[in-house]
Amino acid sequence: MKPFYFLKVFCVLMFCAVANLCAQSSSPLQSAAIDQKVEKLLKQMTLEEKVGQLNQYSAGAATGPGTGRTGYPEMIAVGQVGSLFNLIGAKQTNEMQHIAVEKSRLHIPLIFGLDVIHGYRTEFPMPLGLAATWDPALIEQTARIAAKEASTDGIRWTFSPMVDIARDARWGRITEGEGEDPYLASEIAKAYVRGYQGNLDSPDDIAACVKHYVGYGAAEAGRDYNTTEISDRTLREIYLRPFKAAADAGALSFMSAFNSLNEVPASANPFTLRQVLRHDWGYKGMVVSDWQSLWEIEAHGIANDDRTAAEKGILAGVDMDMEGNLYHTHLAELVEAGAVPMSVVDDAVRNVLRVKFALGLFDHPYADDTKTAFDGPLPAASRELARKAAEEAFVLLKNEHAVLPLTGIHKIAVVGPMADNADNMLGSWDAQGKANDVVTLRNALTAYCAAHNIAVSFSADASAASADADVILVAVGETASEMTGEAASRTRIGLPGAELVDEVAKFNKPIVLLAFAGRPVVLTPIEPKATAILEAWFPGIEAGPALVATLFGEANPSGRLTASFPRSVGQEPLYYNALSTGRPVGNVDLTRPPTTGLEKYHSRYIDEQNSPLYPFGYGLSYSTFEFSTPQVSASSTSAKALNAGDAKAEVHVTATVKNTGNRPGDEVVQFYIRQRGTSVARPVRELKGFQKIALAAGESKQVDFKLTRQQLAFWNIDMKEVAEPAKVQVWITGDSASGTPAELEIKP
Ligand code: NOJ
Repeated sequence: MKPFYFLKVFCVLMFCAVANLCAQSSSPLQSAAIDQKVEKLLKQMTLEEKVGQLNQYSAGAATGPGTGRTGYPEMIAVGQVGSLFNLIGAKQTNEMQHIAVEKSRLHIPLIFGLDVIHGYRTEFPMPLGLAATWDPALIEQTARIAAKEASTDGIRWTFSPMVDIARDARWGRITEGEGEDPYLASEIAKAYVRGYQGNLDSPDDIAACVKHYVGYGAAEAGRDYNTTEISDRTLREIYLRPFKAAADAGALSFMSAFNSLNEVPASANPFTLRQVLRHDWGYKGMVVSDWQSLWEIEAHGIANDDRTAAEKGILAGVDMDMEGNLYHTHLAELVEAGAVPMSVVDDAVRNVLRVKFALGLFDHPYADDTKTAFDGPLPAASRELARKAAEEAFVLLKNEHAVLPLTGIHKIAVVGPMADNADNMLGSWDAQGKANDVVTLRNALTAYCAAHNIAVSFSADASAASADADVILVAVGETASEMTGEAASRTRIGLPGAELVDEVAKFNKPIVLLAFAGRPVVLTPIEPKATAILEAWFPGIEAGPALVATLFGEANPSGRLTASFPRSVGQEPLYYNALSTGRPVGNVDLTRPPTTGLEKYHSRYIDEQNSPLYPFGYGLSYSTFEFSTPQVSASSTSAKALNAGDAKAEVHVTATVKNTGNRPGDEVVQFYIRQRGTSVARPVRELKGFQKIALAAGESKQVDFKLTRQQLAFWNIDMKEVAEPAKVQVWITGDSASGTPAELEIKP
């Protein structure tokens, strides 16, 4: 028996070791075979050729302050360029690639990048809208289509996903991210990476670039590019989490940010780039700067000349200089002067080459220029996904008298410019999106009404046609490229055009406000006058069909907010996972100014409530859902056992969710916790899980969430990420402001 027993144990151990090795090497970034190729190539490279791999230039439309530089073919031929971006098209990219592969001494291919943010030609909703779907699997599919389309045009690297947590709706770039929650953003970050990169085994896989590392979304006062001050704990708890998730999912690259973080520009920050990213996380992908962000460290004030800026950037850990020309001009000389060790340059080159090998660029450097997939109509499946994504992204904020879905309607008046604005539906960063591909609300509604014998009128203003309509649709909002996205921060974040709601209110008809926006907007003044409000974001090419399906109930809204909608801009920054303060408001009535000291001396405003108009996680449906109070599988557990990873210490939290409405609907079931009695203050609520579930009318389902070390650990007073003894409340509910908690205790 005995020898057999040992043999068995030996086999199990061997199996585990091999499985472990396979798991580790499943990412090409960890592949020993790729590392060998990198080393072989590196040995052959001159210093100039090494520096060349670290240079990236924009060779098309400028997506930053233009430089007007030219002469790339000559530079590529002598190995001075590692990457081009903003160059689009198989023919165009191939032309440059032929020079790199055939003329440069070592034949190293270029990598072509582009901002493919929410689709390439098939434009999906903006990322903030996609996040509102709470549907990572769907987001993964959108990224997959984007990768297929972009790679056909020679693009093998997208500067996406943006995973900057944003707690301030003034910041224009809130539209490009996932909102205010690090857990949700992490799940979505992984989905984008999976979608773009696939298995990295095919020429239509493209490299993801996780940006902007790090803290960019915490810009003071919501002003783009502004200073950020973030404690080490908040950095790790909130801002770094989605980056870590993306790195663990195998993202091939990171982009360093424009902002300064705790007085150190993020693009020259050895703490975040070397200590956290490389040392703590063991990241082996490449780091590219943002557009001239190395050069900008001079304006930040930590370098007095370009040479020092280059030196600080490379030493901090930025591998590739985007559009800065600093490495090109100064790096070789810095090495020769001994200011930058050759080993630092070698490591940067390794990171770049590793990505090029991982993408298979050495085997497949060229795009297939016999294919011009993008001249004809888009494939039906792409359109179908765009429509589904838009439908899932819409968030129904208000629906008085169940005015939606529309039934028994004979005449509709549509007012406002967004009903027929194809361009705006694409959102900012629309890559190769075409206004011609967009089906507007006007197109789709006209067709629907013709088929259903409904009269419909369209006008930009509050026309008389509204007087005898059964319902008035007001389609207004932000202009995508001027008012949202990069360099588009606003201090007045009302909904542009909302005055139309006031104007049509005189007709005393139900008003459905269709709000097109890239950020949480202040709806407070018009909210009482709108019977229903549907937040439509910038929905993409299938805007019209998705809106019509939703308005008439073929689709049931299931989008939920991922960023708080403020009552007033003065509340910003506003986010649900805040700390309690020492003077929480408790039951004080905040709808009026304080009249006694007991009402006054709280963390509150004298002229506004603390709560948002619509909280994180919120959204209505045409169904209604009921949650039972959650049940915990144990009333206590142990911090020691949790930290040891003991499965017996895990606690299950379950609840029953019932569709109490009369139509099928999807509910986003959200799992929140709060911990008290810990060494540092923890948020009043934190999202730790979610499930989007489909429920038929009257159907109930049990949902189950786990509390393990992963959910309970946090960066404690000693900056150790551990679970601590605590009193814990847990909620399973439909948004961040509702629900009845169950309780448990974490004992030592
Ligand atoms: C600047 C933006 O901050 C970044 O997100 C983008 O990827 C680059 N420009 C390249 O266009």
